[in-house]
Amino acid sequence: MKIAILNERRPNETRVAGSPEVVKKFVDLGAQVVVEESAGADSSMPDSVFKDAGAMIAKDAKSALQGADIVLKVQRPMIAGESADELSNFASGQVLVCQMSALSEPDFVDAMAKSGVTGFAMELLPRITRAQSMDILSSQSNLAGYKSVLDAASEFGRAFPMMMTAAGTIPPARVFVMGVGVAGLQAIATARRLGAIVSATDVRPATKEQVESLGATFVAVEDDEFLQAQTAGGYAKEMSPDYQKKQMALVAETIQKQDIVICTALIPGRPAPVLIDEEMVKSMKAGSVIVDLAVEAGGNCPLSEMGKVVVKHGVKIVGHANVPGRLADDASKLFAKNLLNFLTPMLNGDGGELEIDEDDEIIKGTMVTRNGEIVHAALRGTKDEAPAPEPDDSGSVDPKSDDPVSDDPVSDEKGD
Ligand code: NAI
Repeated sequence: MKIAILNERRPNETRVAGSPEVVKKFVDLGAQVVVEESAGADSSMPDSVFKDAGAMIAKDAKSALQGADIVLKVQRPMIAGESADELSNFASGQVLVCQMSALSEPDFVDAMAKSGVTGFAMELLPRITRAQSMDILSSQSNLAGYKSVLDAASEFGRAFPMMMTAAGTIPPARVFVMGVGVAGLQAIATARRLGAIVSATDVRPATKEQVESLGATFVAVEDDEFLQAQTAGGYAKEMSPDYQKKQMALVAETIQKQDIVICTALIPGRPAPVLIDEEMVKSMKAGSVIVDLAVEAGGNCPLSEMGKVVVKHGVKIVGHANVPGRLADDASKLFAKNLLNFLTPMLNGDGGELEIDEDDEIIKGTMVTRNGEIVHAALRGTKDEAPAPEPDDSGSVDPKSDDPVSDDPVSDEKGD
């Protein structure tokens, strides 16, 4: 069994899908690991640390892929028509594990099927308890939530905590977090640790208790629709125009009192909801900061621009692309561990042979192509058997729903 870890070639990608710890674990499982030269260079992991962990270093992607059974990447390889054709180096029968955006990238999925590669799209992992340690969305969102607050703090011309000094008192910053999933919870915890006064909003009623348990104030339109806003799977629904209007009014009133707004609201498979319009930006104090973590899904604020920090109406709007990649070292290590945890149950025998159990819920949820065909139910249009890319309906999302993931800020805070 040979596992290849490749360099990332897409713009803004600083992460790598391996780490020395994970290489060592694969080697202990009987696999050979080959890492493409400089794959970890942007994540503070030089070739030498991979070598010390037992990996071979290949001079380029082509030689890393030579004879590889499994290929690990952070993002899907580029295909013909993009700036490079990475997929053309793959051989039929190889297994690719990475984040693919499979539901929104049909050309890539087609190309992967045609190349005979067996593809596992990690973003489609079912959010069931057994899969928590494999969940790249959680591990990366958690870091993004943390970094969003640090990015806000570095753009903000004032301090976060209250400071009483001989020269006068500095009031604490007011931080408003919009969307309280994994990233939002970590943003609340981080802002609180920095001494800010924090409030937060979401449309899912379950988040109210989570927000309050972190010492923040919950702000939301709590009408009948709000009580029904969580899908059986644990995600948010798209809200009705009437609710959106009421929510906009409440946000408009709240936002003008804030110094920092962290936007994390997302709806799976839909553009991000617009929560802050231009009028609201105008109403904010000069020097306020908005960090739009949803910018890659269209943004919660239409004024945010991907990959840029812009100033609009005196407000700094931060739209960094690939925020987890701004903490490339930790993000890579957690991502790599997620992939190890995903593959370990499939690696059997002395040589670490790969056994794919197609009846397993996790395999069904993530396997997109096999033997030249598109096999994922959601992509073949046979939704009847599609495990949706969200927590399942049987309640198998961790019953400690206040504590959805091991790196969740709620549990983190409790442990403080
Ligand atoms: P997400 O990234 O899809 O969305 C972020 C947040 O935005 C969500 O809390 C959502 O309710 C909120 N939102 C959507 N529309 C909004 C609007 N119009 N206004 C305000 N907020 C809005 O969410 P994420 O982080 O992926 O978490 C979704 C759920 O999955 C949570 O219940 C979480 O606890 C659960 N989860 C379960 C896991 C497991 O059991 N393996 C792992 C990770 C998360």
